[in-house]
Amino acid sequence: MLTLGVNIDHVATIRQARRTVEPDPIAAAVLAELGGANGITAHLREDRRHIQDRDVRLLRETVRTHLNLEMAATEEMVAIALDIKPDYVTLVPEKREEVTTEGGLDIAGNFDRLKEVVDQLQSANIPVSLFIDAQETQIQASGNTNAKFIELHTGKYADAPNITVRQQELEALRQGCEQALNLGLRVNAGHGLTYQNVYPVACLPGMEELNIGHTIVSRAVLVGMERAVREMKLAMRGEF
Ligand code: PXP
Repeated sequence: MLTLGVNIDHVATIRQARRTVEPDPIAAAVLAELGGANGITAHLREDRRHIQDRDVRLLRETVRTHLNLEMAATEEMVAIALDIKPDYVTLVPEKREEVTTEGGLDIAGNFDRLKEVVDQLQSANIPVSLFIDAQETQIQASGNTNAKFIELHTGKYADAPNITVRQQELEALRQGCEQALNLGLRVNAGHGLTYQNVYPVACLPGMEELNIGHTIVSRAVLVGMERAVREMKLAMRGEF
């Protein structure tokens, strides 16, 4: 069954706009689960621009589905993950200036360091997912790290300027999925997915979980979190 991980970062973005206590991403996670989220995802960034350490600690105690902690492969973040023990960690590249995660990790180019982090986390029973572009060399290198999962970056698909490019990007995702499954990797995907573009990605054979944030939080501001999550689950089945 294809599952939905709801990324609640941007609930924290609204809170941090005033550096106050509301809206609380913990409440958002509870409501997302009531709406049918299969998992909750939060990205603790080095600059703490949205999710705070306190959020991750409380999510660990309150999330009833599974908690996916997104983080950079830094010593600080590895120490936090080993302490909090999320259900899995997704390693992402991080640049201070970026508005959001821009590209996938370069596993092939930083193999030794990333393999070390994968080993550290997985030997503490925290499965690791690597956020990468759907490129053959990156998928092969991901397999060589022994990470349990990859998360295919769907940003280029989402941002495609026309239908031809979109189909090409979808095909790259399909091939990436197939290659990864043949290597024994489990496959998630995310970034830039919306109610309008999610269905073709949801149909990719072998896809396990979609991590979706901005579009769900945007809709939740207008219609409420439970409804926004329910509607995304319908969109993933092509029924919305
Ligand atoms: N997956 C990863 C690895 C991400 O970094 C993000 C953005 O934080 C998402 C999924 C969700 O992207 P969006 O907010 O565009 O749905």
